[in-house]
Amino acid sequence: MSEQPFVLVTGGAGFIGSHTVDRLMERGCRVAVIDNFSTGKRENLARWTGHKDLVVLGVDIADGIFAPLAAVETQWGAPQRIIHLAAQTSVVHSIENPLNDVRNNYTGTVQVLEYARRKAVSKVVFASSAAVYGDVTEFPVREEAKCTPLSPYGIDKLGSEYWLAYHSQVHGIDTAPLRFFNVYGPRQDPASPYSGVISIFSDRAHAGLGLHIFGDGEQTRDFVFVGDVSRAIELACFAAGGDGSAANIGTGMETSVNELAKLVNEFCGGQSTITHGDSREGEILKSVAATTRANERFGFEAQTTLRDGLKVTVESLQ
Ligand code: UD1
Repeated sequence: MSEQPFVLVTGGAGFIGSHTVDRLMERGCRVAVIDNFSTGKRENLARWTGHKDLVVLGVDIADGIFAPLAAVETQWGAPQRIIHLAAQTSVVHSIENPLNDVRNNYTGTVQVLEYARRKAVSKVVFASSAAVYGDVTEFPVREEAKCTPLSPYGIDKLGSEYWLAYHSQVHGIDTAPLRFFNVYGPRQDPASPYSGVISIFSDRAHAGLGLHIFGDGEQTRDFVFVGDVSRAIELACFAAGGDGSAANIGTGMETSVNELAKLVNEFCGGQSTITHGDSREGEILKSVAATTRANERFGFEAQTTLRDGLKVTVESLQ
């Protein structure tokens, strides 16, 4: 078997997934992408079209991944590592369609882990979310905080973490759930009203349209650039060990939505009016990650300032 690492990336054509595939390809890995293209796009991987080390399969993980991967396995063997990012990503959608969320975000994870177990995969990295915490009272939010998820999305992410931990303890697979905070950057889709605020603000400010803030705008978030997140995924993927306990992926910096709107507007020429309206139902007022665990475990520290990340994000819209 070749020395070249073979990594399976579920959701590899999506926002975070495609940036992760870029890194793995640059590193010289063989990569198989599984994506159902519900939100992922082939054009996100256009840079690697025709590359001998990339295979892209249009598959829904919840239907199982054994059969679709069989042909790749005859060439490359089974993957040594899996990065599991495929998911239904909207919290609001999960509240309206809980069964769909269970199918994608819970059953889908178990399908991937069942493949990992039977194929003796050595490591599984998983995209969890700060949504597992719910409303917490101590900041920065540490991984030990009590998790009280307030949506099917958060419940299914937390449940998936337990499945990872079980596979570590009982089946000896190294697993690493990463709890992403508010990820932003190029390729994030601004189209839905539930898209990330930075993608919405950048898209609108770029078009000279107004920015609408829910509530007084003093609510804060920990905005982490996708280039940092994909680096965290890569570091976690190739680090030794992983017992299924989660690590936060954030910057440790807190930014209010008011500050954010001002910054985005500034980068886009300052033409947008900023308005305030009713608060979002169930709005979390404060969110910021404790970042030491990811640093201790696999040497991750976010490097991109919000200004630099916003600049790249806005430039990608040109
Ligand atoms: C984010 C995640 C969600 C995760 C949750 C957990 C995204 C898209 N959502 O939700 O998956 O479960 O963190 O902590 O990353 N806002 C406006 N105007 C807009 C859009 C948003 O003022 O047009 C405000 C929101 O009210 C909120 C902030 O911007 O205060 C961030 O919103 P959003 O990007 O949707 O993320 P979260 O609500 O933090």
